[in-house]
Amino acid sequence: MKSILITGGAGFIGSNFIPYFLEHNLDYKLVNLDALTYAGNLENLKDVKNKSNYIFVKGDICDRKFIEELFDKYLFHDVIHFAAESHVDNSILGPEAFIKTNVLGTFNLLDVARKLWMNGPNNYKAEFKNSRFHHVSTDEVYGTLGETGLFEETTPYAPNSPYSASKAGSDMIVRSYFHTYGMNVITTNCSNNYGPKQHNEKLIPTIIRKALTGENIPIYGDGKNVRDWLYVLDHCKGIELAFKKGKSGETYNIGGRNERNNLYIADKICSILQEIKPKESGGSYKDQITFVKDRPGHDLRYAIDASKIENELGWIADENFETGIVKTIEWYLDKFAN
Ligand SMILES: NC(=O)c1ccc[n+]([C@@H]2O[C@H](COP(=O)([O-])OP(=O)(O)OC[C@H]3O[C@@H](n4cnc5c(N)ncnc54)[C@H](O)[C@@H]3O)[C@@H](O)[C@H]2O)c1
Repeated sequence: MKSILITGGAGFIGSNFIPYFLEHNLDYKLVNLDALTYAGNLENLKDVKNKSNYIFVKGDICDRKFIEELFDKYLFHDVIHFAAESHVDNSILGPEAFIKTNVLGTFNLLDVARKLWMNGPNNYKAEFKNSRFHHVSTDEVYGTLGETGLFEETTPYAPNSPYSASKAGSDMIVRSYFHTYGMNVITTNCSNNYGPKQHNEKLIPTIIRKALTGENIPIYGDGKNVRDWLYVLDHCKGIELAFKKGKSGETYNIGGRNERNNLYIADKICSILQEIKPKESGGSYKDQITFVKDRPGHDLRYAIDASKIENELGWIADENFETGIVKTIEWYLDKFAN
């Protein structure tokens, strides 16, 4: 049985990915390494915690010695790297943790994997000849778009926040390990995800939560910032596909062709809630929408051209925003009721 290291598996996307991956890949033993920062929650993995091919390890990817010992112990055949500091607002308040985890942490993992898997540049050890390092990244590395255009894999990097800059840095280190050492790496850059298990601080859980508690629903600026929303399970399917079938050294953009602005998102959530859980005090959830001071350096628009992963690997998003958001709201209604 091959062993795979998943980092950051207690976070939003990782905790959606792990149950999906375990169900479809019975030939792998999966080790989930997570530091359990405020963003990690093992409750999200309660359905898999007793599986015989799943192991959780608490630890920090910035701790080189610890990472080396972990690789020595489990002899990982593959790595899918999700762990990151991921919240843009937090990166504005305290950028240092982002540089450490996203840049130094990624470097540690890559470098320790290289030493385990390879004898030297372009020379893999026989038992690791198909070993792959998959780096999970974001479309935010491309900066911002105007009213038109799409991010392609060839779009020059132009990150605007400490978060996106730290992810851009990690993408470049991964790239260099392909070009310098011939390491089998792959990077996927995905648009904004939404769905079950996302931290309460993020936009969609915040809108749902505040609506239900009768508080103001805060929307930055004029609410016109556009994101290309992807249901988290569609992202997980894209990662699995790229991990298995993607070409070494390549990057793949993943996005659902679902551009929506923040005001539309808030409006839509309020309408759906109004239907399935009408406001007890009467009136409309929409009346709670309030505009607040914009985030500094707030990118106007992100949108992904996903043609490469669609055409070369046959990926397609199963959900559009209007179907995925209903599933998401139902999940949070259940969560907030308990
Ligand atoms: N959420 C999105 O919309 C989105 C979109 C595109 C790409 N991404 C990328 O996907 C990955 C996962 O994002 P997410 O939304 O699940 O993030 P998240 O913040 O929900 O989860 C990150 C996880 O990493 C762990 N972690 C943080 N620092 C660590 C460290 N030093 N060592 C070990 N573990 C550590 C946290 O405890 C947490 O469980 C990130 O790399 C992010 O950049 C996210």
